[in-house]
Amino acid sequence: MNAALRLAGALSLVSLFPLNALAADAKGTVEVVHWWTSGGEKAAVDVLKAQVEKDGFIWKDGAVAGGGGATAMTVLKSRAVAGNPPGVAQIKGPDIQDWAATGLLDTDVLKDVAKEEKWDSLLDKKVADTMKYEGDYVAVPVNIHRINWLWINPEVFKKAGIDQPPTTLEQFYAAADKLKAAGFIPLAHGGQPWQDSTVFESVVLSVMGAEGYKKALVDLDKGALTGPEMVKALTELKKVASYMDPDGKGQDWNLEAAKVINGKAGMQIMGDWAKSEWTLANKVAGKDYQCVPFPGTAQGFLYNIDSLVVFKQNDKGTAAGQQDIARKVLGQDFQKVFSTNKGSIPVRNDMLADMGKYGFDACAQTSAKDFLADAKTGGLQPSMAHNMATTLAVQGAFFDVVTNYINDPKADPADAAKKLAAAITAAK
Ligand code: BGC
Repeated sequence: MNAALRLAGALSLVSLFPLNALAADAKGTVEVVHWWTSGGEKAAVDVLKAQVEKDGFIWKDGAVAGGGGATAMTVLKSRAVAGNPPGVAQIKGPDIQDWAATGLLDTDVLKDVAKEEKWDSLLDKKVADTMKYEGDYVAVPVNIHRINWLWINPEVFKKAGIDQPPTTLEQFYAAADKLKAAGFIPLAHGGQPWQDSTVFESVVLSVMGAEGYKKALVDLDKGALTGPEMVKALTELKKVASYMDPDGKGQDWNLEAAKVINGKAGMQIMGDWAKSEWTLANKVAGKDYQCVPFPGTAQGFLYNIDSLVVFKQNDKGTAAGQQDIARKVLGQDFQKVFSTNKGSIPVRNDMLADMGKYGFDACAQTSAKDFLADAKTGGLQPSMAHNMATTLAVQGAFFDVVTNYINDPKADPADAAKKLAAAITAAK
């Protein structure tokens, strides 16, 4: 069954007119469901909260812990089924269309803001289209994250006798061996499905290149999913996994990031929200830590765009609050402060083209430069693990097969590739 129909089916029993309990406020209350709950993420979202509160609205925080957002999505679905969706929620990629198809998203409330603030010319067309349903904005994009990063503690590298960040998988394994021999955890990693698949897609990009990544993880081409390149990617994934933190099972990503920051581990493969934890610990990019593309992926950029959707509500105060949030989010001031705290880059074209002017650090400047360059070469591809490439049902199929494969000592890469294709066909 098509994912939109599945979601619509789940919600069909409920009223499309959510309850409204908070009409008494002077300017309005908006509840915002999101999963920005690590120390660094919280510091970033608090910027938005403060700006909205300064404008006289009440921000009802609907934070749901759980990196990658799977728990937040479950909570959101049950809230919607109960007829009580929040005013605003963090939803990404193709999922936005599925939610809009249920009729629960508001296609009117952002119209004037988008027109006044000229969103169509501020944003890349691809980004704008993801935020629209049948031509109308139902979401506001917040920032752009890159997934395929490797985070390094250079002090630990030095102690282990490694003088260069790895740029190939062979160099990565050699560095990991040295880290292990020197008594460090080579690769900090929390064994949660979304983190396993974050590593998986970085390895796929490294082995198969952007074109192969697209065929397999975006187009879901059966030949690419089961072919020799995918088998090779899975073989490399198993090797990468052999260096993962043995205490990392079920561990949150930020607790693993802390191991690199505190000098217990040498590296972490993680999207650039990892930088929020380094920033919170007062560490400086290029000095206290290094961010380099995951080995073999310098020409590729797996993107992940955070966005906030607006749900239909039936009071004017909430609508005004939703508009205020949308206006603030795409303002230059917020774009700079939020991405600086969060580790991402702005989503506005004017800022992406002139990052130095806004005081962004070396990691962010590289990211923006690569984002713009890779958009022209086909190196820019949507992240599967972070809801940008497929529906949640297909993503779930990837997560299951990849995590089982990583954890099964007897798993065979060719067999795993076949399982991947079969699980995806069933989920489509
Ligand atoms: C989100 C980021 C978030 C990360 C960890 C990603 O899917 O896009 O904003 O920081 O998950 O929770």
